[in-house]
Amino acid sequence: MQKTIDPAPATGRLSAPPVRRGLLAAKAAACARCQACPLYRNATQAVFGEGRAGAALMLVGEQPGDAEDVAGRPFVGPAGALLDQAIREAGLRRGDVYVTNAVKHFNFEQRGKHRLHKKPGAGDVRACRPWLLDEITIVRPHVIVALGATAAASLYGPSVKLTRDRGQALAAATTPIQDAAPDAVHLVTFHPAAVLRAPTSERRAELRALLTSDLTLAGRLAGKSRGPSPS
Ligand code: URA
Repeated sequence: MQKTIDPAPATGRLSAPPVRRGLLAAKAAACARCQACPLYRNATQAVFGEGRAGAALMLVGEQPGDAEDVAGRPFVGPAGALLDQAIREAGLRRGDVYVTNAVKHFNFEQRGKHRLHKKPGAGDVRACRPWLLDEITIVRPHVIVALGATAAASLYGPSVKLTRDRGQALAAATTPIQDAAPDAVHLVTFHPAAVLRAPTSERRAELRALLTSDLTLAGRLAGKSRGPSPS
């Protein structure tokens, strides 16, 4: 990855929003039948991305959680609530952003009546990557933000390290997403669940502030920021 701060404009090769919406709907329907990794067996459903079909900014999480698995929508549980707050504090609107995950099925361990989040394996991430690349190809965002290490690994492979590279605009050089989004600018930042899991309230506040400032930068690079919002 090379460092850059100038997002190149999207080329707009992929036509009108209704066409993109149709393409995304077709991909979501195909993804609903995906059996490329074992995770489909226990999950309720595949959770495809959602948001504006021509969004300038795409946020990529890890995998749906318990609430998302039930609702069939990304980031609607506790991590989603925190992400929504950070999006607002960054001066953005969730409706302007395309939100998705590296892995489309919920991976969990059953403990009594609780389903505990389990990190997806490298094979699951690899098997799911074509869906993510399809979403990127169709949406053609100017800026892509990987929320956490799983999304960063799916998008950029081992060359990007969350702790070293977060908070700076990066240009894809030799990553799997180069063909899908040759002009996009990339950022990696903390996953909202990592903020929620932080061991102390000080650390939680620190990580949350960094997530918000990274989203602010992403919005600015995508030409989307409306300036910080009051809450
Ligand atoms: N965590 C994720 O990575 N994605 C979601 O959709 C919800 C929680």
